Amino acid sequence: MENFEFYSPTKFIFGKDAEMNLAKMLTENDAKKVLIHYGRSSAKESGLLPKMLRLLDESKISYVELGGVEPNPKANLVYKGIEICKNEKIDFIVAIGGGSVADSAKGIALGACYDGDFWDFFVGKEVPKAALPLGVIITLPATGSEGSNSSVITHENGNLKRGCNTDWNRPAFALMNPELTYTLPPYQTACGIVDIMSHVLERYFSPTENVSLSDNLCEAILRTMVQNAPIVMKNPRDYDARANIFWAGTLAHNNVVGTGRVQDWACHKMEHELSGMYEVAHGAGLAAVIPVYMKYQLAKAPEKCAALFARLAREVWGISPTENDEIATAGAGIFAMETFFATLGMPRYFEDFGGNAKDIPELVSKVRMDPCGTLGNLNPLEPEDISNIYKMMCRP
Ligand code: NZQ
Ligand code: ZN
Repeated sequence: MENFEFYSPTKFIFGKDAEMNLAKMLTENDAKKVLIHYGRSSAKESGLLPKMLRLLDESKISYVELGGVEPNPKANLVYKGIEICKNEKIDFIVAIGGGSVADSAKGIALGACYDGDFWDFFVGKEVPKAALPLGVIITLPATGSEGSNSSVITHENGNLKRGCNTDWNRPAFALMNPELTYTLPPYQTACGIVDIMSHVLERYFSPTENVSLSDNLCEAILRTMVQNAPIVMKNPRDYDARANIFWAGTLAHNNVVGTGRVQDWACHKMEHELSGMYEVAHGAGLAAVIPVYMKYQLAKAPEKCAALFARLAREVWGISPTENDEIATAGAGIFAMETFFATLGMPRYFEDFGGNAKDIPELVSKVRMDPCGTLGNLNPLEPEDISNIYKMMCRP
């Protein structure tokens, strides 16, 4: 096991009516003037936003609103939020919505405490040294942004989608009511399920040996997703299935299951360029990338992947091992995963989300490689490998 530090300062309030703790949490955090940040329409239509604004009015907490966050949130609105925070002397930000709203709020929180361009943090030019405190009412189990150290923003200039990882991004509190996820359309629910599973897989795809605790935790979360996904797809108002998925989403990405392991993250970085260029939902892009990535790695580096992928097949997908043939067992697991994503209605091929093979060189050139010049750690990829994977994703 590798040495590690684990830091998860967020106070999670989970369950029915969790959002009603907003005023109390703001008072506990000594918030004087709050920026209420939200998306395009869902929080208004569900009644959540008006209910929260009423709560703030009744509690005499002063606030300014900024809505309009788009999926794959854009830098322009972050700039606007930073300006509001500076002009209005905002001292606390509340995000109400999905991961995009949380991420946009994190970008604003960083930029509001910085004299330069917040984008410096996302391209690695500067390291954040401060941020406004942030609370979230998360309405979409997917990104784990309610507990994660990440924010992912797309800059309109070049459609570059970039992440900034810093402990300054970790929310002070997260209010999580599974009932608030009942209104999610099936497609969005499915995208979230894939994203949660991918956050576990990025950690599971590790060259680190003798990490049985986190191996087992990863598999437990993945099994939980496989068990509960069909239930919520059939009955969106199943409280317990929604609740299990919601909490799995937080644990999948607050790094509790990644402790002590070298992690991969190649699929995420390849996907980010897809959702940056084509506006495909992040989870949908991942559903197309992950099985192809696994097939490619299994063929290219079976000595690094076969045993791990075969274990995944057995422990999560219930595949009976093919005697003395880990590659066959691993392959059956990948097929089971592909089928599972298809039953959720996820895209499979590049073309399914508007991808075009002619864009592959540009996509490859945009992928943010690791500092050592390759991508991922299970079996590091060169640009040529990335190009091959994108090509394998195209419809035959
Ligand atoms: O814009 P509104 O009207 O609010 O609608 C949203 C949006 O259209 C809707 N929605 C959210 N909650 C809802 C709801 N609709 C009905 N009922 C509800 N309860 O869902 C749509 C998608 O929302 P979005 O926030 O974009 O989805 P998600 O939470 O999946 O966030 C995706 C973004 O997060 C990034 C992704 O790359 C992508 O940009 N990620 C952030 C991470 C992090 N911060 O740790 C890690 C992830 O790997 C990921 O990269
Ligand atoms: Zn993700």
